[in-house]
Amino acid sequence: SPWRATVLTLYPEMFPGPLGLSLSGDALARGAWSLETRNIRAHGLGRHRNVDDTPAGGGAGMVLRCDVLGAAIDAAAPASDPRPRLLMSPRGKPLTQERVRALSEGPGAVIVCGRFEGVDERVIEGRGLEEVSIGDYVLSGGEIAALVLIDACVRLLPGVMGKHESGVEESFEGGLLEYPHYTRPREWEGRAIPDVLMGGNHAAIARWRAERSRALTRTRRPDLLGDDER
Ligand code: ADE
Repeated sequence: SPWRATVLTLYPEMFPGPLGLSLSGDALARGAWSLETRNIRAHGLGRHRNVDDTPAGGGAGMVLRCDVLGAAIDAAAPASDPRPRLLMSPRGKPLTQERVRALSEGPGAVIVCGRFEGVDERVIEGRGLEEVSIGDYVLSGGEIAALVLIDACVRLLPGVMGKHESGVEESFEGGLLEYPHYTRPREWEGRAIPDVLMGGNHAAIARWRAERSRALTRTRRPDLLGDDER
């Protein structure tokens, strides 16, 4: 049973977008995963299919209505749907590779894309939405964040990554940043490939790479290292 993503959005035209190309697009065409987009506006109210209203207590912007989003969620995923229900939001718990791995090993995800200044808190509680952030910056809506989350999950599905199987030796799943990569030509604009990589001593190469990973991580991302390794 393929991994299944259902995306609730006011901008269904933003999907599959880049996920229709390359690795994820090929996997989508092969049926390794599926993507369903549901327009929240289909549950909008009145002749104008209104989905938002002014914030209680005043303030700027508009808030996505709980009744509208609740109906959209109920139509997209019955209470019995085993998939986690995520709300893309800069207020969310930061997305990690560990969480991506867990999601990719499950049945899929129901992903709500926030817009406007926010979503009525009652539907977050009432439908058990888990808020997820892709980083400490603010996007204009959750759609691009949803594309990021789906991309990260899909590349881990069995058979999607081909040669570079499952990505275990990449950044983060090993807990460190990746070492530098090189390919031909051996010298370019006065910069040579490090001699150790040209020598065929595989133990020496492994030691060099581990050292470069460690040094890069120490300068760029000391937060990824334990207190003793820093
Ligand atoms: N929507 C707006 N900004 C976001 C972020 N950083 N992560 C997830 N969803 C968002």
